[in-house]
Amino acid sequence: LGSKIIHKESTPSTQVIAHQLAQEGSPHGTIVLADEQTSGRGRLNREWFSSKGKGIWMSIILRPEILPYLAPQLTLLTATVLAEVVQKNTTVTPMIKWPNDILINKKKTAGILTEMQAEQDQIQYVIIGIGMNINQTKEDIPIEIQSKATSLRVESSEKHSIKQFIHLILEEFEKAYDSYLINGFPEVKKKWERYGFKIGESISITTLRDQFQAIFSGIAEDGALLVKQKDGEIKKLYSAEIEWFKD
Ligand code: BTN
Repeated sequence: LGSKIIHKESTPSTQVIAHQLAQEGSPHGTIVLADEQTSGRGRLNREWFSSKGKGIWMSIILRPEILPYLAPQLTLLTATVLAEVVQKNTTVTPMIKWPNDILINKKKTAGILTEMQAEQDQIQYVIIGIGMNINQTKEDIPIEIQSKATSLRVESSEKHSIKQFIHLILEEFEKAYDSYLINGFPEVKKKWERYGFKIGESISITTLRDQFQAIFSGIAEDGALLVKQKDGEIKKLYSAEIEWFKD
């Protein structure tokens, strides 16, 4: 990882640059970093605020030799990497909200956007976009997302070195990725479950079609969310928004 690093002061989105580079043949492990993104994007086409020098805005090009349907495992792997780095290097406790949000005190501090280019049964490349709020103060966070979003600084009352955090993430990512290629998903799943929702917890689920309450029952081998419905049936979900159930 990081044999090739492209650093931009300001760019619309590191994700867009990474796609271009990957299509031009940039190797596995290429990293695109920016101090600022002017149109950062999140999952479901949402806007991602990426103010100058306040966080990590980074895209990683991977060329994994796995089947395309397993790519969501890489999102879960990345979530465990971010959680581990926060756990080991700060005073706050991270939690993973399926599939890919890193929360501190139930507010989002990091997100992952995984995008893939595949043909039939072969992955051409995967881009893992990581956005992590580090040194924003409360005032730096747009008012409309203040109830849901936070930064490491807000939660820990400490400033952190962004450069060092990038280094820690890449180091941890490399270890986790190498081990994943050798040992497969079970290890990732075990770690994920250390930081993720606890099995048996009641959650509220919103899909494109409906909204319902169910019991969190873990994650499947392909990274899908498993929930137990009222009638006892276990449902596998690939795309949904989940929240803690508030009564
Ligand atoms: C999400 O939680 O919805 C995912 C957010 C991903 C944001 C990162 S920042 C670096 C990369 N470039 C982008 O435009 N998005 C991702």
